[in-house]
Amino acid sequence: MVVEKIKDVREIIKSQKKQNKKIGLVPTMGYLHEGHLSLIKKAKENSDFVCASIFVNPIQFGPNEDYNKYPRDIERDIKLLENQGCDLVFIPSVEEMYPNERLTTITVSKITDKLCGAYRPGHFDGVCTVVAKLFNIFAPDIAVFGQKDAQQVAVIKKMVEDLNIPVEIIASPIVRDEDGLALSSRNTYLTYEERHAALILNKSLKVAEKLLVSGERSAEKVLDAVRKTLESEPQCKVQYVSCVHPDTLEDLTTIGDKALIAIACYIGNTRLIDNLLWGVD
Ligand code: PAJ
Repeated sequence: MVVEKIKDVREIIKSQKKQNKKIGLVPTMGYLHEGHLSLIKKAKENSDFVCASIFVNPIQFGPNEDYNKYPRDIERDIKLLENQGCDLVFIPSVEEMYPNERLTTITVSKITDKLCGAYRPGHFDGVCTVVAKLFNIFAPDIAVFGQKDAQQVAVIKKMVEDLNIPVEIIASPIVRDEDGLALSSRNTYLTYEERHAALILNKSLKVAEKLLVSGERSAEKVLDAVRKTLESEPQCKVQYVSCVHPDTLEDLTTIGDKALIAIACYIGNTRLIDNLLWGVD
């Protein structure tokens, strides 16, 4: 079922809740791939009525970012979601989500100053604001987010904790292509050669994993190896490589029981991110 209006979503959710159905929500910006569909599957395992939203949220894109050229294919997305057993797809217009001048913004501070947040000012304000709105529209029992955007998971979890939003946030593992490239709607921007060069992201994380498995605990040593691997690919321009605690996003010097190795690189004009979560099931 495709729904475009907030008031219709509220009515449907109300009737599902009356039937004691547990509501699951998977927010997306569309142009769906297996990564998104894995979140629907996870939501189905953890709820009774699974909803997805498709909304390319203008307020989370910077002025020089790709809002206008962000790939869109609503008809295909709807089919994929229906085949995956998604019960409701919410596809609002920009006017439906932002009808009047918006005077309210949700800001999660500190943990948004680093990693992607350091290079995308305002991005997480836009993400938190739209996700908070979706949580208010759906009042879901659970919401599923991909570990691909590890900082987004940490930021949303903190927002939910700080604002006492009654929703359980479930993080779901990164889905990759057979050759290891993390699936992303933005992979469509890559030329054939760039697509090949982009494999260096996952390769560099494999190097990190090998070091960790062999017992290396110095973040500096692991990050040096990751950076060197990334720089061995001439088409790859590193934006950041970081080793942080997955929840607090504090930089680690010594790697303890949990760590997140997060990287962002440009391959040509396309910015790609990937990460390795160490020590978390
Ligand atoms: P979008 O980039 O469309 O991603 C929607 C969800 O899919 C996010 O939770 C993201 O982490 C997850 N995802 C993307 N690629 C994945 C992969 N390869 N494996 C597993 N999960 C993957 O993230 C957003 O949209 C937006 O910021 C949003 C949360 C919808 C707010 O506008």
